[in-house]
Amino acid sequence: MIRRIVVWCSVGTGLLAWAACQQGANTAGEEGFDGQHRHRTSEEWERYMEALEDPDRSSWQKPQAVVKALALRPGERVADIGAGTGYFSVPIAKAVGPRGRVYGVDVSRQMIDYLSDRIHRDSIGNIVPILAPSNNPTLPANGVDTVLIVNTYHHLDGRASYLAHLDKALAPGGRIVIIDFVPRPREERGFGPPLGMQLSRETLDAELSQAGFAPAKVHDFLAEQFFVEYRRR
Ligand SMILES: C[S@@+](CC[C@H](N)C(=O)[O-])C[C@H]1O[C@@H](n2cnc3c(N)ncnc32)[C@H](O)[C@@H]1O
Repeated sequence: MIRRIVVWCSVGTGLLAWAACQQGANTAGEEGFDGQHRHRTSEEWERYMEALEDPDRSSWQKPQAVVKALALRPGERVADIGAGTGYFSVPIAKAVGPRGRVYGVDVSRQMIDYLSDRIHRDSIGNIVPILAPSNNPTLPANGVDTVLIVNTYHHLDGRASYLAHLDKALAPGGRIVIIDFVPRPREERGFGPPLGMQLSRETLDAELSQAGFAPAKVHDFLAEQFFVEYRRR
């Protein structure tokens, strides 16, 4: 089966870009395969991780402002779904402090290995890396206060069932926070997934509503992305 997938990569201008490719499918979780079932060479993995960690990304991703806006409490338990290299997991771990916990969930063994090495290298004691199947974050029931999903919601297959898993993982009063791209042609923006993979805010709200969640807070300082906090209705 041939599937359309994306890779986030650097382009000559220094901007980040999503390049669409056609590749053969295979089983997620196997050595060398990413969340979209695409085999990546070690050089491609390296480029993908470099792109996620590119210092230029902060100009539009504003990680410090995002973490501040989340107003995390010391001791809070956060699940970072599609944690990747830990671009958000690491500053969040700092924000929730030693009594807090970050579950860094990813389908990619390469990302989880990268995150685990980073945790070890920087002696970060409160991030738990989780190599999860693509249809289940395998989080503890009632064990999470905040679920954060950055640039990953549009990758999830079977989102209704995935959201039901997240609902079970959320403690009373918990929230699901989604940051993802406002639909716009990639050629205009210069980075981000292809238009066909981008979701409108209406779709996002409708899917979360089906799962029993309603928007509780909307942050509007990311020019290219939605940043919405959902809570149980
Ligand atoms: C574009 S990256 C974003 C990484 C990180 N959130 C960030 O903003 O830097 C998407 C990540 O989601 C992961 N991913 C894709 N599908 C997933 C799924 N079903 N469950 C968990 N992680 C997934 C990929 O392996 C990849 O690390």
